[in-house]
Amino acid sequence: MKPQPEVRGATIVGTGMYVPDAILSNYDLEKMVDTSDEWIRERTGILERRIAAPDQASSDLAVEASKRALEMAGLEPKDVDHIILATTTPDRYLPSCACTVQQKLGASRAVAYDMFAACSGFVFGMGLARSVIASGMAETVLLLGVETLTRIVDFKDRNTCVLFGDGAGAAIMRPCAAGEGVLAVDIHSDGNLGDVLEIPAGGSLRPASEETVRARQHYISMRGKKLFPFAVRSMEESLRIVLDQAGLSPDDLDLVIPHQANRRILDAVRERLGLPEDKLVVNIERYGNTSSASIPISLDEVVREGRVKPGDCLGLAAFGGGATWGASLIRWTLARQTPASAKNAVLGASRMAPTSSPS
Ligand code: ACO
Repeated sequence: MKPQPEVRGATIVGTGMYVPDAILSNYDLEKMVDTSDEWIRERTGILERRIAAPDQASSDLAVEASKRALEMAGLEPKDVDHIILATTTPDRYLPSCACTVQQKLGASRAVAYDMFAACSGFVFGMGLARSVIASGMAETVLLLGVETLTRIVDFKDRNTCVLFGDGAGAAIMRPCAAGEGVLAVDIHSDGNLGDVLEIPAGGSLRPASEETVRARQHYISMRGKKLFPFAVRSMEESLRIVLDQAGLSPDDLDLVIPHQANRRILDAVRERLGLPEDKLVVNIERYGNTSSASIPISLDEVVREGRVKPGDCLGLAAFGGGATWGASLIRWTLARQTPASAKNAVLGASRMAPTSSPS
């Protein structure tokens, strides 16, 4: 029988995050809408969130996170050949935010495009990044989740304005040996749930008009109560699917990084999986819900804190508007390292053949 081509995997060789300096606390919100620090803390776990400066757009946040991820990987912007940017808040609808990031970063060799999968964008993007690397279409992917949600939140609507914040997270992905790095990705969509979380106007359905602006239809509108049980169920189920695909069980998880939507949702997922508290990554108290950025921000924090080491099994899980949901499972390969050692690891990985090349 003809020998099969070596299947290569994809792994993370650098992470980075950036959040704006300005803090919007629960006490600040008390002055804007009929709410209280106590209500927000108890119902969501959020104490404060970051808010972009007037001259900062999503691309600016993304560029800062990208620089930090590249530095950890020991790579330059010109080494990147593929940029996938997950967002719900691009700088403009045309051009894509990814193209603006490519230009500002100087990643002139990279193809760049946006992915719209709401809060699940980073997990969806990881599935895509893994595929383009495995097929040989890309060698070095910059995967981003970035949001300036405070630009699309109605600060007169207490149901939503207490939840969201701004930030960016990045991961550099490169080839690795099969069976390492990203072990499994599971993603889903259900358009029947489209109106649970939406921005009613500003697209082709209801173009911007004086009427849509007056009706405040360019802001996020959400049916939070309906989302809550869906969020818990979907993240648990998707994590179980990726564990099954890899022949593992919840006990094999060293760390779970869920989309930071609500502390009570995260605790419910952890309990349903039977995991101890120290295996759940939570930073919602500091950043609120940063949608597609929440997982890569959390990932970068645990990497830099040394909470994850080579061989660890990481589960990422998300849900969001669309509806979309999914999970990915990673066998961690990146040691705490200097940029020079990262570069050597990357050079080693690039010798791995893509699935499409002959053995
Ligand atoms: N301050 C004070 N009271 C409030 C506030 C507020 N900020 N917001 C709502 N309330 C009131 C409501 O009006 C309601 O009052 P009523 O009983 O007089 O009608 C009461 O508090 C209880 O409201 P509930 O909706 O029942 O509160 P709940 O415990 O469900 O918490 C929350 C609301 C936090 C939105 C919760 O349902 C939730 O987190 N759902 C999931 C939302 C989510 O994950 N969204 C993001 C998903 S996708 C993405 O990340 C983009």
